[in-house]
Amino acid sequence: MRIPLSKIHIDDQIKETVLRVLNSGRYINGQNVRSFEEEFADFCNTQFAVGVSSGTSAILLSLMALGIGKGDEVIVPSLTFAATATPAKFLGAAVIYADIDPKTYTIDPAEVRRKISLKTKAIIPVHLYGHPCDMDSICKLAKEHALYVIEDACQSHGATYKGRKTGSLGDIACFSFYPSKNMTVLGDGGMITTNNEKLAQKVMMLRNHGRTQKYVHELLGLNCRLSEIHAAIGREQLRHLAKWNRRRREIATQYNALLPISGVTTPVERNWAEHVYHMYVIRTKQRDKLASYLKEKGIETGIHYPVPLHRQPCIRSNARLSITEKYAAEILSLPMYPQLSDKEVKYVALEIRNFVEDAKCQE
Ligand SMILES: Cc1ncc(COP(=O)(O)O)c(C=O)c1O
Repeated sequence: MRIPLSKIHIDDQIKETVLRVLNSGRYINGQNVRSFEEEFADFCNTQFAVGVSSGTSAILLSLMALGIGKGDEVIVPSLTFAATATPAKFLGAAVIYADIDPKTYTIDPAEVRRKISLKTKAIIPVHLYGHPCDMDSICKLAKEHALYVIEDACQSHGATYKGRKTGSLGDIACFSFYPSKNMTVLGDGGMITTNNEKLAQKVMMLRNHGRTQKYVHELLGLNCRLSEIHAAIGREQLRHLAKWNRRRREIATQYNALLPISGVTTPVERNWAEHVYHMYVIRTKQRDKLASYLKEKGIETGIHYPVPLHRQPCIRSNARLSITEKYAAEILSLPMYPQLSDKEVKYVALEIRNFVEDAKCQE
């Protein structure tokens, strides 16, 4: 058996959609982007959604729209993809790392509280692997200290916190449609969601050269637009997202039932969360050996992320993040995608069991 870490869905409908856009002659700023924005806002239950060129540009433009830059501090987790933190650094702000909650692996509000200073302007909670952060605690802190909350929802399309969709919980939120995500535009793409009309208008201008009309550039903007082809694919994928997320949850339930093995920690879902398992991540002290063993058995795994951001050359810090560091050496992402069959899930779990048994015998 060959089991990849993730798999992409492409069907005839998507192919026909792409052809239709190709034949339409309209590739930028057209009806597909507008409709995708409306449909995505509807899905997240927000008033506005603005299509952009990637999750990274969604974060960059959100920070720009909030006026964050030199002299400001932004609090982020360190166990995440680089793009959670690099846009703030790019704008001249300081990136301050907070450790994670040991159960959910998402940013720990108590740690955020400790890291707030007079310079802090924003918190970027990341709904890591598809598990929502403890948003009430984070939003309460933000309110007390007049901070912005920018949700990094790049891994949590459709996840809910106390019944509310991620992307609707802070001041502004950022999604990625990179190919490995729970839904993709089969290329680069992203979305910003918000209930704040002024912010929505600002990011809409910023993504399009800061202009109000052709050749009138009011703001210092960029070209971070989403293309018509990608928006049209996104609309098709969005129609399947809820069903796909249900299947991911079913698979997680199966893994959870098959993997209570000593030395292996399975993911936790808080009672206020509906996890969408962008990644199904276990922890074990034997991580690297287990990954090699599974590779031999045809099972692909991943590490999200082996080097935490505070150890990355371009955004390094001296922060002491004991849980982040411990976990970065132990986490292993198992195959997770809606097309994964029950038989394949069983095979992955069986091979993990075999590995653990072999390791015990060798002790
Ligand atoms: C948590 C997180 N933040 C930001 C990003 C950046 O998104 P993109 O790759 O679309 O720029 C990603 C995706 O890779 C991500 O997983």
